[in-house]
Amino acid sequence: MEHRTIIVTGGAGFIGSNFIFYLLENTEDHVVCLDSLTYAGNLSTLAGVANHPRFRFVRGDITDREAVYRLFEETAPDVVVNFAAESHVDRSIENPGVFLQTNIIGTQTLLDACRKYGIQRYHQVSTDEVYGDLPLDRPDLMFTETTPIHTSSPYSASKAAADLLVLAYHRTYGLPVSISRCSNNYGPYHFPEKLIPLMIINALHDKPLPVYGTGENVRDWLYVEDHCKAIDLIVRNGRVGEVYNIGGHNEMRNIDIVRLIVHALGKSEDLIRFVADRKGHDRRYAIDPSKIHRELGWLPETKFEDGLQKTIDWYLQNEDWWGAIISGEYQTYYQRMYGDR
Ligand code: NAD
Ligand code: TYD
Repeated sequence: MEHRTIIVTGGAGFIGSNFIFYLLENTEDHVVCLDSLTYAGNLSTLAGVANHPRFRFVRGDITDREAVYRLFEETAPDVVVNFAAESHVDRSIENPGVFLQTNIIGTQTLLDACRKYGIQRYHQVSTDEVYGDLPLDRPDLMFTETTPIHTSSPYSASKAAADLLVLAYHRTYGLPVSISRCSNNYGPYHFPEKLIPLMIINALHDKPLPVYGTGENVRDWLYVEDHCKAIDLIVRNGRVGEVYNIGGHNEMRNIDIVRLIVHALGKSEDLIRFVADRKGHDRRYAIDPSKIHRELGWLPETKFEDGLQKTIDWYLQNEDWWGAIISGEYQTYYQRMYGDR
């Protein structure tokens, strides 16, 4: 599969853009990014590769069947990696409809295109949130690939539905698919509505740091580049029809992350505010990544303390990127989400 043509959907978002940078730097692949540029997609993120000879950006919606088919006809992709999604749990609680549309119908549209035009591999970027949550007092429990799907939010329900469709297209039509379910990512170009960038940016402005509930909820954090390497490995060497969990055994309580950020920026913990909890808030996510380690030799490379420092430095050095975002529609979102919380 040398010199493949890869369609990367959602490549103007956080993880998709990092994946594109990874591919352009480490492979000879030709990369076509398909992204509709929702509030979460930013062309400025891709500015550094816009003129790269092996890169092309196409603005389009994965639910737009005509546009998707046209792109497949034009580019004859060997591989499709689908990152395109509505990705924020809080927004899914406010307005589930667009999550079902993009995450489920969009996935179906891409799968249909793969059937129609043929493909070497369709890879679905999924999430550990499809497994629901784990209790806080059972640190021995972790999600494996055989943990039952048991979703909590409209976001995770839509991602789970998409996973089931992907597996159905494999079983029914023999489509060569794979799925990865990763834990929480962090790193450069993370949209400011998510925990880590939100806390960095608020702390820089000496604004209150809104911690949901008691702050004891646990997430299993992975540096985005480690996720990108894992996806690349699965697409190349992972078995067709299989699900691979990705995570780095790095469980942290939200409150501890917020404190680390406050201290790294030399700010005061007085900025922390405990606010109304998220509805249906998942307590703990924890990934057992032994399958991808055993089968593909993948291990995370970035330690959390290093990754967090790199991330903080990136936000300090890239105010142009996030400044443009938080001065726009984000203001209205922030007011709506946190105004009376
Ligand atoms: P993001 O919200 O930063 O980016 C999503 C991108 O998809 C944006 O560029 C947006 O414009 C694009 N998009 C949305 N709807 C589209 C549509 N209908 N057609 C075309 N493009 C569309 O998301 P992210 O954090 O980079 O997540 C990427 C994928 O990884 C998602 O599928 C998400 O479920 C999954 N995931 C994320 C995490 C995480 O911690 N962020 C963890 C595990 C899995
Ligand atoms: P988030 O980054 O939205 O990711 P996810 O919900 O997909 O795990 O949130 C991570 C954790 O941080 C989650 O437990 C909710 C919590 N959180 C806050 O406490 N305050 C906030 O302002 C945000 C955005 C999240």
